[in-house]
Amino acid sequence: MPVSRHLIALSAAVCLAAGLAAAPATAEPRPRTLAELAKKHHKYFGSATDNPEFTDAAYLKLLGSEFGQTTPGNAMKWETTEPRRGVFDFTAAEEVMTFAKAHHQKVRGHTLVWHNQLPAWLTERSWTADELRAVLKNHIQTEVRHFKGRVIHWDVVNEAFNEDGTYRESLFYKTLGPGYIADALRWAHEIDPHAKLYLNDYNVDGIGPKSDAYHSLIKQLKADGVPVEGFGIQGHLALQYGFPADVRQNMQRFADLGVEVAVTELDIRMPLPATPEKLATQATWYADYVKACLAVEKCVGVTVWDYTDKYSWIPSVFPGEGAALPYDENLTPKPAYHAIRKVLGG
Ligand code: G3I
Repeated sequence: MPVSRHLIALSAAVCLAAGLAAAPATAEPRPRTLAELAKKHHKYFGSATDNPEFTDAAYLKLLGSEFGQTTPGNAMKWETTEPRRGVFDFTAAEEVMTFAKAHHQKVRGHTLVWHNQLPAWLTERSWTADELRAVLKNHIQTEVRHFKGRVIHWDVVNEAFNEDGTYRESLFYKTLGPGYIADALRWAHEIDPHAKLYLNDYNVDGIGPKSDAYHSLIKQLKADGVPVEGFGIQGHLALQYGFPADVRQNMQRFADLGVEVAVTELDIRMPLPATPEKLATQATWYADYVKACLAVEKCVGVTVWDYTDKYSWIPSVFPGEGAALPYDENLTPKPAYHAIRKVLGG
């Protein structure tokens, strides 16, 4: 090759190499995930998940990339973890734990004591107080021991109050009296003193009889030296019932008691079909809820109760309602997703 042509070829190669090397600097930066955006505010942004969804690769890809925290939707509940008395099975929960670990996600433990999804061996006979206390202690301590050091929070007692602020007449309340809550917290703390121990409920977003009951209870538990460290506000909202305008004030009054707060199961359902107007209102509500958490220092994070309408619990429980989550059934982000990003600074 003559020298001049050689030089042209060489300089073309150099330009090409320079162009290639320069490419990353000029390429669009990858948009930050909800997890990354929330982290800048020292909060997590998470999603619940459930085992049947673990065969859906597209679903898992988003779950593992977009969210910094997960909660097993069913896998840690009593009927699953202790299906026969004294026989424990953590297989389903471990599937979630393995995924979470591989994707650097925090895990909330949900839930140790609840009136729902109890095994038949527990509900289909009567118990003396001493018997039930022993069964409860063993359940709590075995499960907490199994996950020790691997969950950030435990929803120790879930949904303990009625709407009017009276105690729910659960098996545990009826047999053991209200003291079962303090006992449960103490037993859990004895095994894993580093997991933050929560009370968790729905319809406690704003100030009202039910959240007042929690406020009084937590105040009393703190005064008695009981290890309660968090209040979980589930946040199952519905467009037809209005937005709880005082959610921030409510979070703050719990923070002022010295406990942290988490939004543990956020979803915002609507009467179907979803219209652009309803989706726009939903987006504003999601944004306002997340804004409230950002405004309260002790609000540690937000978890949506799964992230896609494909796997929402709503349609099976509220026929004719749904579209409650930030992604639609095809895993496409909805206006709510974009509104959350914006509030987080994305
Ligand atoms: O495990 C059985 C399976 O064997 C059977 O084939 C199938 C047929 O319907 O049912 C399966 O059980 C279902 C279970 O989820 C596990 O998938 C139940 O029918 C179903 O009712 C149950 O729903 C769960 C619900 O809690 C039960 O109360 C939802 O998935 C779960 O998202 C929901 O979560 C609760 C929180 O724990 C507490 N706060 C409220 C929230 C929404 O209800």
